[in-house]
Amino acid sequence: MNHPVMQGLAQSTPSYVKNARLIAWVADMAALCKPDNVYWCDGSDAEYQRLCQQLVDAGTFKKLNEAKRPNSFLAQSDPTDVARVEDRTYICSAKKEDAGPTNNWMAPSEMRSTLQPLFDGCMAGRTMYVVPFSMGPLGSPIAHIGIELSDSPYVAVNMKIMTRMGKSVFDVLGVEGEFVPCVHTVGAPLAAGQQDVKWPCNKTKYIVHYPETREIWSYGSGYGGNALLGKKCFALRIASNMGRDEGWLAEHMLILGVTNPQGKKYHVAAAFPSACGKTNFSMLVPPAGFDGWRVTTIGDDIAWIKPAADGRLYAINPEAGYFGVAPGTNMLTNPNCMLSLRSDTIFTNVALTDDGDVWWEGMEQDAPGKALPAHLIDWQGRDWTPQIAKETGAKAAHPNARFTVAAINNPALDSAWDDPKGVAIDAFIFGGRRSTTVPLVTEARNWVEGVYMAATMGSETTAAATGQAGVVRRDPFAMLPFAGYNMSDYFQHWLDLGEKLAQSCSKSGAALPKIYTTNWFRKGDDGKFVWPGYGENMRVLKWMIDRVEGSIQGHEHITGVSPAYNDLNWTGLDFSAEQFNTVTSMDKAAWLKELALHTELFQQLAHNLPKELSETRAALEKRLAA
Ligand code: GTP
Ligand code: SPV
Ligand code: MN
Repeated sequence: MNHPVMQGLAQSTPSYVKNARLIAWVADMAALCKPDNVYWCDGSDAEYQRLCQQLVDAGTFKKLNEAKRPNSFLAQSDPTDVARVEDRTYICSAKKEDAGPTNNWMAPSEMRSTLQPLFDGCMAGRTMYVVPFSMGPLGSPIAHIGIELSDSPYVAVNMKIMTRMGKSVFDVLGVEGEFVPCVHTVGAPLAAGQQDVKWPCNKTKYIVHYPETREIWSYGSGYGGNALLGKKCFALRIASNMGRDEGWLAEHMLILGVTNPQGKKYHVAAAFPSACGKTNFSMLVPPAGFDGWRVTTIGDDIAWIKPAADGRLYAINPEAGYFGVAPGTNMLTNPNCMLSLRSDTIFTNVALTDDGDVWWEGMEQDAPGKALPAHLIDWQGRDWTPQIAKETGAKAAHPNARFTVAAINNPALDSAWDDPKGVAIDAFIFGGRRSTTVPLVTEARNWVEGVYMAATMGSETTAAATGQAGVVRRDPFAMLPFAGYNMSDYFQHWLDLGEKLAQSCSKSGAALPKIYTTNWFRKGDDGKFVWPGYGENMRVLKWMIDRVEGSIQGHEHITGVSPAYNDLNWTGLDFSAEQFNTVTSMDKAAWLKELALHTELFQQLAHNLPKELSETRAALEKRLAA
């Protein structure tokens, strides 16, 4: 091979890299992608600073005002590259039925021949960064290693925050260790002398997973889950396949610890669809009336959960940082998040203030009457004023604008967040975004009913994915875009695990986690949220803990078990029984329509749909008809 990068590759490979499969793969990929250089990231702070400066020099990053937002940067992406692209995301299993009806599929050989010409020379004029990372604490038996090759330095610095990234990964990898190979390109090769743009990307996009060979190939996007391949691609789509094969779970869940005034601690994992409140809930500040209660964050987006011999499930957060939604975040809705963002943060697609700080819609809700900024540079680099916003409706920040920040910046970080053993889960929550129909909180009567609730969850789409926002779709387990194999097989995996746990629990005396479904998003006739949400969600969380303790009676109804008005602690909140009724009432006509949507989903998922779920649906239908 006579491309110049191949001649330099042997010399550029650090001597501490001993893994033969890795070295051969990097050489193959360099030969295919033809970057000008190959750079092996060591994960040091000096390297981070150097790459950030390079991004500033290239115009991708703006350094924010050091006095206001120390060591922080703003990136504004290409307006066509702002969110995950679900219609361009593929699960290329050998057999179509293994990807299932909810995933895009192409035969692996066909996809490989589609991608081959796109990747040929795709990194010309650029550097290929070799990014070694661990999902989960380095060396933990639950953790897994990935290597991302990317021509985006923006990806390299984000991966430094989001994962345990750097050369110590090679100590764990050794000579023969396993890793998930992840190749990423923005798909914008540069001809000799061609000037780069500040956010290179390509109209054509492919986010591709080969589950059998555990490979990820991503083309054309530099944004979030499309490009930071440790996150959705590895930790959810590939890891869900690993979990199915090995008997564990990879879930789109936050993990939190909640400690009561007596010092007893519980752990809850909650699956809410994208941009439906996971980051928020994981950092919750208990409101007035909850003296002595404390919520601590283990993770805000992804959980890897493994059963232990005692029949309990232990969860770790495979990530090391948060890639969270900025709009709507303020000192009232999520103070711990705002405090996390005080320094050392990368902001993407928020607005820039005239004094070199950041701004987004909903940032100053905490200061009623406080004037909007008189002038901003919006996420597309244009002038923004309150007047322009009024006239055109232009948003200063993109609705999917995000921050990247290390977990250690979070004042509410749980002391066990980095514990390789994980934390024992007491309850699961599944919660969609529904303006109507679905009540505030419902407890499943048993594991199967809980799996049914999760499987049939509906949610209004958000700006986290391209496409139309605000349409109700089924989002089973908040995993619709992330399950790396046939959805019905995934349901079966949850049912099988429940049975296995029940057996171990009957020996150990442990209890199966309880399963809940929540909806913080019911709206009134005025189109406004009725439930105050955010910190006030503690009132519902406390009821769940009471139920786990068995200290409070539940009220059974058609779809499960719910609290009565007086079962919740209302100290410090003015929320009437009538308002409570607005967010908890069950409308039979609406539920008949809802059930029809469950039926439609089950028709779509008929292949391998567990019979327990159809039976649960039939029982629900009967209760509704009665
Ligand atoms: P991903 O990172 O996309 O997986 O999303 P996430 O589930 O972590 O969502 P996040 O917590 O970032 O919340 C997204 C949006 O929901 C923000 O605009 C929040 O202000 C809003 N939100 C969060 N919690 C609540 C709540 O309890 N009530 C209401 N009404 N809005 C909420
Ligand atoms: C989500 O969309 O659920 C996210 C953001 O957490 S991204 O990493 O872009 O997928
Ligand atoms: Mn997410």
